[in-house]
Amino acid sequence: MAQNNNETEGFRDDQPQSKERGKAMISVRDLYKSFGNQQVLKGISFDVYAGETLGIIGPSGCGKSTILKLLCGLLIPDSGSVTLGSDRYGLVFQGSALLNSLSVAENLRLPLRLSKMSKEDENAKIAQTLKLVGLEDFRNAFPGNLSGGQQKRTSFARAIVNDPQIILYDEPTTGLDPVMSTVIEDYMITLETQLHAASIVVTHQYSTWTKTAHRIILMHAGKIVWEGRPEEAVISENPFMKQFAHATREGPMLAGTV
Ligand SMILES: Nc1ncnc2c1ncn2[C@@H]1O[C@H](COP(=O)(O)OP(=O)(O)O)[C@@H](O)[C@H]1O
Ligand SMILES: [Mg+2]
Repeated sequence: MAQNNNETEGFRDDQPQSKERGKAMISVRDLYKSFGNQQVLKGISFDVYAGETLGIIGPSGCGKSTILKLLCGLLIPDSGSVTLGSDRYGLVFQGSALLNSLSVAENLRLPLRLSKMSKEDENAKIAQTLKLVGLEDFRNAFPGNLSGGQQKRTSFARAIVNDPQIILYDEPTTGLDPVMSTVIEDYMITLETQLHAASIVVTHQYSTWTKTAHRIILMHAGKIVWEGRPEEAVISENPFMKQFAHATREGPMLAGTV
C-alpha cells in the first residue's frame, strides 16, 4: 500500500516555470550501459533545470545508481551523452560515506581543499554549512558517535559546502525512521531552494519522491516507462506506475526479476 493515503497533500507546489528555465543543468541523451552481458540502461534521456528536483524511481537493480555514477564520471557510458552545466556538484551517497577518523568539521573541509580558500574562510564556510543542517554544536564530534540522522545530515553538509549547482542524492532516506526521513526531505527542499541547484534524487521511498521531486521518471528493464509529476504518478493508470505507486504484486514489474 502507498504510505500516504492523502493524495492531495505533500507535493511540491513550486513547479518551476518552463520559460524561466533557460539551459538544462543536467542533460542526458540516449544513455546505454552494460556490465558484461547484462544490459542495464537501454536508452535513457532526460533534462534537469536549475531550481528543479527530478526523482528517479524504480525497483532495486533497475540501474538508478548506475545513472548517478555515469553523471559524476565514476562510470563511462557505452553510448549516449551526459552534459553538465556546472562542475560544482555535490553527492550524497547511499551510505553516508563519512571518514570516521575525521571530525565532522574535517569531513566538511575535504571538498574545500580543492578551492583556494584561506583557513579562516574555510572555517567560516564550515560553520555556516553546519548551521544550515542544525549541526553547529557537533563540529568536533566524530561520525561514529553520531546518530544515523546526524550522519546523514553531515553527509548533506559535506555535499553542499562547495555551493554546488548540481546535487545528486542516492537513496537519501533509505534506512531512516519516518520522522528522520521527513527531516531529511525538508532539508533537501531547503537546500535546493537556497542554492537554486538542479537536483536528482534516486529513491524508492514513497514519501521522498512525492515530497521532494517536481518531476519523476520511473525506470524498468533499462528504460523510462513513465514520466510526469508526483501528483499525477499516484493516480496514474499506467500499469508500471500504478504498481510502483501502490506497491502491489499484480502488475508488469514481476517480483523476483528485480
Ligand atoms: N560495477 C558493476 N559491475 C557489474 N554489475 C553492476 C555494477 N554496478 C551495477 N551492476 C548491476 O547493474 C544493475 C543495476 O545496478 P544499480 O544501478 O546499482 O541498481 P539500483 O541503484 O537501481 O538498485 C544491477 O543488476 C547490478 O548488479
Ligand atoms: Mg542503488
